[in-house]
Amino acid sequence: MQLIILTSETDFDGWRTAARALALHRVDPADVTWTVQGQNQVPSGLSEASHLPPIETESTFSVPVHFIELARVAILHRDEDRFALLYRLLWRLKADHDLLATMTDPDVAQVNAMVNAVRRDAQRMRDVVRFREIGREQKAHYAAWFAPEHHIVEFTAPFFTRRFADMPWSILTPDVCAHWDGHAVSFTPGINQVEMPAPNKLEETWRRHFQPDRPLTLQDEPRKRRRNLPEASILEPLLSDAERWTGGRMNPRAEISMARKPAADDLEALREEAAHCRACPLWKDATQTVFGEGPRNATIMLVGEQPGDKEDLAGHPFVGPAGQMLDRALEEAGVDRKKVYVTNAVKHFKFVPRGKIRLHQKPNTLEIRACRPWYEREVSAIDPALVVAMGATAAQSVFGKITPIGKSRGRLIDLPDGRKALVTVHPSYLLRLPDEEAKKLEYRRFVDDLKIAAGLQAKTPRAA
Ligand code: URA
Repeated sequence: MQLIILTSETDFDGWRTAARALALHRVDPADVTWTVQGQNQVPSGLSEASHLPPIETESTFSVPVHFIELARVAILHRDEDRFALLYRLLWRLKADHDLLATMTDPDVAQVNAMVNAVRRDAQRMRDVVRFREIGREQKAHYAAWFAPEHHIVEFTAPFFTRRFADMPWSILTPDVCAHWDGHAVSFTPGINQVEMPAPNKLEETWRRHFQPDRPLTLQDEPRKRRRNLPEASILEPLLSDAERWTGGRMNPRAEISMARKPAADDLEALREEAAHCRACPLWKDATQTVFGEGPRNATIMLVGEQPGDKEDLAGHPFVGPAGQMLDRALEEAGVDRKKVYVTNAVKHFKFVPRGKIRLHQKPNTLEIRACRPWYEREVSAIDPALVVAMGATAAQSVFGKITPIGKSRGRLIDLPDGRKALVTVHPSYLLRLPDEEAKKLEYRRFVDDLKIAAGLQAKTPRAA
């Protein structure tokens, strides 16, 4: 009897190498026991395979490519007999190359059923995973809990890296946890089922496992196992709004920023539509949508973060203290504000009430994403040669991903649509600097950045 120990539940390469060697040595499937490292299910009396003798180099055989494709997916099934089934199929395919076409064959039927079950589970994961924001501001992180039927986390992770490329996230599961930092995906061991976090405990669980240096303030009670009931998440309003837009149930997997295709480049129609936007919850507390303003043929589009208190009340962008700072800097840089289109990445004021004051809150990634279709439609309506992103929120919207200001600041950057982008600080940052010297210095740098925009404006025909 040969004992094959694979390194993990999803060790396809290990299975493939072992299966090939076993088949070349004509080891009957009935004489092989498959298991996974760390499992205590090795039948007593069995030890790992005595090494198979070397294979003559010319020995080889081929199996249909389709079988390899099936095996790659079927191996993710939780049935512990899958390794044996796949080897049995491989063994039989050597003699009957067309075996997979015989759908009534029990082994073929079983492998197909496994593949379908794995695919369904992957689809379910793509549909129901709902991220919650568990960090704040610069440290924002998004986490979700999911309990898969099969070993699909690594298989499905690339989907989430593409769909949520611009936000750092973790998907916690009992098998393995997947993490995305905006650049690379990594995996850590799973979290015990009994620790399955209720939606409001997700942050605790995440911190306990991945930020052990941060003290916990609350006890995490063991919870009864509960499947992935979609929690009331911020995505729901986005989806229902998309539904309203598309006139039907939107596929929940569809990209939010694709929820709406530019219908017309009429700015007034856009403004009117945006006035009723419910794509994220910010509309509830804000006075009104503050849409962009400026000439239809502007060469330059300035993008801020979100309207502030004054803008929310007035309904116009950059009319408060940050706007005054911006006007001054534009003038010094030689840019005529009347000739630029001024807008914000997020079009509703986000704040928390503090007595009589409404305290500005930075919009989070989901809110920026929810509002991005408006930015995209403004860009296509105005068709500017240059987009100036002022601050981190604007940069995230313009580039579609988290973009550090320091690294990108003060130079023209090519955007995929052929336009140029310029990244600089937000004028409110200058207002907040406590040190007068630093304020002067930073203001000069801000004006210098805007001079780059002035130079481009002067060179373009529309500047006249
Ligand atoms: N800050 C912004 O980002 N936009 C405004 O309109 C006002 C302040």
